[in-house]
Amino acid sequence: MFGSQASRIGVLILKQLSRGKSISRPRYATSSFSQFLQPLYDQQSVTKLFRGTIFQKHHHFSTTTASSSEEGIEEKEKISVTFVDKDGEEQHIKVPIGMSMLEAAHENDIELEGACEGSLACSTCHVIVMDMEYYNKLEDPTDEENDMLDLAFGLTETSRLGCQVIASPELDGVRLAIPAATRNFAVDGYVPKPH
Ligand code: FES
Repeated sequence: MFGSQASRIGVLILKQLSRGKSISRPRYATSSFSQFLQPLYDQQSVTKLFRGTIFQKHHHFSTTTASSSEEGIEEKEKISVTFVDKDGEEQHIKVPIGMSMLEAAHENDIELEGACEGSLACSTCHVIVMDMEYYNKLEDPTDEENDMLDLAFGLTETSRLGCQVIASPELDGVRLAIPAATRNFAVDGYVPKPH
């Protein structure tokens, strides 16, 4: 009996709160119920309840705003890169800062090999930086990269390994040519000499 009356009163309070009405004490509340439910009718308790609701809504909106601005930042943290294939066809892509040109090419279905998957054990990811200005902005190749570049087909002064060229803000607008052929010593039968 006590339980069913309490639940009916609870439902009544929730309905009134959802309609934004003030809460009035139910006529059938007995003195023992009044004592039990007094804190719920108390103005301070109701105010706290509303504040909680408003805070939750506000908190929700804040989170949405933050994630929107994060998306904006992510969008800005990409650079424009153009790949030019052996037929002169250009493909313009956006590359996130920190991603290698080999990964970017594969994500965009650009035919750039990468037989060793970036572990500096091949030269199949050979690309030619088309503007010296951009080539000079790159970090110098390591000895390991130079060793592999020596094996690359059609080596030029501005050749690099695509897996070692990492997207950075200063490379925004870089153009990379993909050579007409690659030399994969694993397939071509070339065996590198030990140092
Ligand atoms: Fe092999 Fe770049 S993928 S060195």
